This record gives sequence, structure tokens and C-alpha cells, in this order.
Amino acid sequence: MSETETEAGEKPAVNATSGATIQLENLTKLYPGNPSPAVDNVSMDIKAGETVILVGPSGCGKSTTLKMINRLIEPTSGRIRIGDEDVTDMDPVKLRRKIGYAIQSSGLFPHMTVAENIALVPKMIGWSKSKVKDRVEEMLDLVGLDPREYHGRYPRALSGGQQQRVGVARALAADPPVLLMDEPFGAVDPITRDHLQDELIRLQHELHKTIVFVTHDFDEAIKLGDRIAVLRERSHIAQFDTPEAILTNPTDDFVSGFVGAGAALKRLNLTRVRDVEIAEFPTVTVDDPLQSVFNKLGGGPHNELLMLDRRNRPYKWLRRGDLMRARGSLARAGQLVHDTVTRDATLHDALEAVLTDSGGRVAVTGRRGEFIGVVDMHTLMNSVHELLEADRLTAIEHQHELQEQHSDQTVQELEGGADV
Ligand SMILES: Nc1ncnc2c1ncn2[C@@H]1O[C@H](COP(=O)(O)OP(=O)(O)OP(=O)(O)O)[C@@H](O)[C@H]1O
Ligand SMILES: [Mg+2]
Repeated sequence: MSETETEAGEKPAVNATSGATIQLENLTKLYPGNPSPAVDNVSMDIKAGETVILVGPSGCGKSTTLKMINRLIEPTSGRIRIGDEDVTDMDPVKLRRKIGYAIQSSGLFPHMTVAENIALVPKMIGWSKSKVKDRVEEMLDLVGLDPREYHGRYPRALSGGQQQRVGVARALAADPPVLLMDEPFGAVDPITRDHLQDELIRLQHELHKTIVFVTHDFDEAIKLGDRIAVLRERSHIAQFDTPEAILTNPTDDFVSGFVGAGAALKRLNLTRVRDVEIAEFPTVTVDDPLQSVFNKLGGGPHNELLMLDRRNRPYKWLRRGDLMRARGSLARAGQLVHDTVTRDATLHDALEAVLTDSGGRVAVTGRRGEFIGVVDMHTLMNSVHELLEADRLTAIEHQHELQEQHSDQTVQELEGGADV
């Protein structure tokens, strides 16, 4: 997620402090009453602006490791450095103002409004009233919630996904260089989770924070991580590498087990809609006169049109036959658009959307939901084919290397034998 591109027409990046390095040096946590450590001697170097995912089985020490970074849990031994600073002995309250923290079920204070929740840390560090107010608006806008609508609401009046968005807005409010996230999307439904993940990717394109993100969903790890640390019990690092490397070259059976079956298909999570061809598609809008829609469908080369609403968002797929059947009324014609993807969605998301839609394509939308183009089954199949082919070649190379090593060994043994 560390690319710096921004979309044409998208809002310029918010003024933001970008990420700082994080170094964990021999971090250990012994909980009282337990002779064996929950986290044992973990060392990890995280680059500035990088998104690192901690994955591993339940109870392996992910949350403990994460909470030692902002010292919600005090390490028993070891050091933590953020940027140039050793923060192991720093006042933890001060430290936490520089580190955003978002958790499952958002952790919002129920008796405070959305605005009050987001304003919490900026107020604490003494920002002026007007600066805090502007920041709250900016943050709500950043996470895709209309400030006028959501500002004064209480968390209970928000959906799970909206609560998570406010949780992220709160974590980012004081513009910390570092963001810690502990299964932040663990409690929402799969579709909302996909969208929240896409939004986090978009945010990170703009903000370049250093993010440490805990999950036990390996697909989520592949989608979000620049690097993934696969952890065993006591936070021992089994492998710490890019998603590609872990998928194509897991170090041992533990990691393979975590990757699970279908590594090639999982790589669909690594390619984004932005990386494949987004095709044009003929459109009309709801306000177009019926006759011109007819002309476009009837006379033109197209069997199908996409109807956009007044804000240019995909609304309905219209086929030639639909118009005949609807006998002159556009209101009844066509099929509502069920699912759309953004440029940050993965090919996996796109394939899912295409497969659930009988038309064999999915509409791609921009930041405000506006129509950009379509990705179709053909494009997706080509990408899948390329991925599988690349995997096949890697496997063959690997096989050759093994054979060479093996024959080297045989030669050595034979030569060794000849000496005797
Ligand atoms: N406050 C505590 N006191 C004693 N033991 C604890 C405490 N918190 C966690 N542990 C133990 O430390 C180990 C690691 O816990 P941790 O919460 O870090 O795991 P996790 O990897 O985040 O698990 P999960 O995926 O279930 O959230 C577990 O064995 C847990 O029982
Ligand atoms: Mg945990």
C-alpha cells in the first residue's frame, strides 16, 4: 500500500504527518502468575509508511505485541523505538497521543457523540476549539461520512461499519505517524469488511502512516499488507515477508498451513482492479429521454447500456429486450446494479461481484461512487491465467534448483567415494 499515486480528480491528500519507523528489540511479556511468556523475545523492524500485518493463531500473542507498542501493556523486557526515539520509558500517556489505536467493535464511548469521540485526543493535546472543529469535519469526510449528518449522532445510532469508520477517524484525528489496529474489521459482515478494507487502502495512499494491523484472516493480510509477519505461539516469527513471497515460498509447514489451500487463487487478492484494464461501457442517465435511450440501444452496436443516476452512479443495467418488455416505461425496465467495486478492490472482490451478476461484468466506481468503467469476466480470466502461469513457472524453477542441488550432492558423494 505504499504507492504514492493519487487518482486524477480525487481530492488532494490531507495535510498529514507521514509514518515513522518502528523497531521492536527483544520484546518480552510475562504476565503475572504465568511462568511462560505470552510474547517471547520478539524483534522486528518496520519501515516508515509501511503496513505490516501480524497474523497467527488465537492466543499466539498478537494483541499483546501490538499493545506493547503503545504501552497499553508494559513490556517485561526489551526496547521499543519509534522514529529516532526510544519510547520504552517515555510517559505512556504522552506516547499514546502520537499513536492512533483502533480496535474491534470500534471502542467508541457510547455517551459521547461522533464529533466528541473524534475530538478526544486533539482536545487533550490542547488544539484550539476551531482547529478541533475543522479537524472533526475533515476526518469524517476522510472516512466517507457526511459531517452534517453524522456529527451529532451517538454511536448506537450508527451501523457497525459506520462505527468502525468513526473509530478509524478517531485514531487518525491527532495526526499520529503510527496507527495500531487490532482486528478492526473483525466484527462486521463480509461485504462491509471488503469496503472498509478498500477505504483503508485509499486512506493509506493519501496518508502514508506506519500501520501495524492484527488479524487472523489471511486473505485480509494479503490484501492490506506491504509485509506480513506470520506468528507462532509466543509471537515467535515464522516468516516476515511480502505477501507474494509468503504465498509463493512459505518457509515451512506452519506457514503453508496458514496460507491454506489455493495459494494461486489467493493471489487474486494481490492484484487490484486498478492494475487491469477497465473498459468503457455505453451509458445513459435517468434523465435522458426515452427515445434517445431507445435509439442508442436499438440502432447502435450495443446490446446493453448502463443507466446512471443523477449523481453519475451506476443504477441499472438495461438490455435491448428490457425496453420492449417495459413498454415505454424506463422506471420498470432493467436490472438494478447490485454490487460495484472501486479501483482499490482486489481481483478477488471483482471476481466475486462478477460471478454473482448474470451479466458477467462489474461496474467500477470512483471515490464518490461515480461510474468509471467496467471490468468483465474475460479480463479477470486472463489475469487468473497469468497468475497461474507465473506460479507454474516458479514451481518449475524451484524444482530445477532442487534437482541441481541434489545432483551436486550426488557428484560430491561420488567424488568423495572415489577418493577412498
Ligand atoms: N492480562 C492477561 N493476563 C494473563 N494472561 C494474558 C493476559 N492477556 C493475554 N494473556 C495470555 O497471553 C497470551 C497471548 O494473548 P493475546 O491476547 O496477545 O493473543 P492474540 O494472539 O491476540 O489472540 P486472539 O487472536 O485470540 O485475539 C494468551 O495465552 C493469553 O491467554
Ligand atoms: Mg487479540
